[in-house]
Amino acid sequence: MSFESILVEQRGAVTLITLNRPASLNALNSGVLEELITAFAAFEADPTQRCAVLTGAGEKAFAAGADIKEMADKPAAAFYADDFFARWTSHLVKTTRKPWIAAVNGFALGGGCELAMMADFIIASENARFGQPEIKLGVAPGMGGSQRLTRAVGKAKAMEMCLTGRMMDAAEAERSGLVARVVPLASLVEEAVKTAAEIAAMPPLAAIANKEMVNAAFETGLDQGILIERRIFQVLTATEDKAEGMAAFIEKRAGVWKGK
Ligand code: CAA
Repeated sequence: MSFESILVEQRGAVTLITLNRPASLNALNSGVLEELITAFAAFEADPTQRCAVLTGAGEKAFAAGADIKEMADKPAAAFYADDFFARWTSHLVKTTRKPWIAAVNGFALGGGCELAMMADFIIASENARFGQPEIKLGVAPGMGGSQRLTRAVGKAKAMEMCLTGRMMDAAEAERSGLVARVVPLASLVEEAVKTAAEIAAMPPLAAIANKEMVNAAFETGLDQGILIERRIFQVLTATEDKAEGMAAFIEKRAGVWKGK
C-alpha cells in the first residue's frame, strides 16, 4: 500500500502511522483524510496488528488543523454535500475497534487537536500545544472539538479556548486530563510505541471490550453505562482468553492469547 501524505510502518503488532506534510505543519487536507481512512481500515483488518500510534512528521506539529488553503474557496454547499469531516470521524472513532494512541509532537490545533482527541488516549511531547483557534478564521470546531474538549477538560477551559483560541501547553493539558502522559520530544514515538506494544500484548478481545466500556461513559448515563460494563464483562467470561488468563495466573505463568 503506498501513500503520499502519510507513512505507515508495522513494528511488531503495532502500526505506526505518521502524518507526513511537515512543510504545511501536517495540515489535514482531503488527501490525508482519505489515506488515514485507508490506513486505519487496513490496521483494523489485519489480525497481526493489535494497537496503533498516530503521530506527525517533524518536531513542530502533530497537525496544525484542517487545511485552511483547501477550505478557503470551498463553497458551503460542497461542505454540506460532502458532510465534511463525517467519514473521518466515523472511521477513526466508530469503525476502528482496536485501540490507538495519538503521540502529539508540537502543535495540535483545530482539526489536529480534534484528531488527537479521537484517539483512545494522547501521549504528548513537552513542546505540545493544543488549541481550537477556528474562531479566528470565522468558523468553529468541525470535527468534535467543542464536544470532546469539553468532556476532557470541562466547560470553563474548553469555552475559554474556543472563544479566545488560546493554546494549552503540555503541562496544562496533562493537569487538565486532556493527555495521559507527557514525555520528552526525543522519546515520544518510542514511548508511545512501547505503550502500544504493552496493549498489543493483552488479550485482544479484552482490549476491545475495555475500550468499548470506557467509551460508553461518554455516551450514556451512569446506570446504563454500568449495565453495559457488566454485560461486556459477562460476555468476556465466555472467551478462551478468560480461561487462559485465569489459569495462567493460578499456574504463575504468562498467558498465551488466542483472541477467541
Ligand atoms: N492549513 C494550511 N496550511 C497551514 C496550516 C493549516 N491549518 N497551518 C500551517 N500551515 C502552513 C502555513 O501556511 C505555512 O505554509 P507556507 O510556508 O507555505 O506559508 C507553513 O504551514 C508553516 O506555518 P507558519 O509559517 O504559519 O508557522 P508559524 O510557526 O509561524 O506558526 C502556527 C505556526 C501558529 C501553527 C500557524 O501556522 C497557525 O496558526 N496555523 C493555523 C492554525 C489553525 O488555525 N488551525 C485551525 C484550522 S481550521 C480547522 O481545523 C477546522 C476544523 O475544526 C476541522
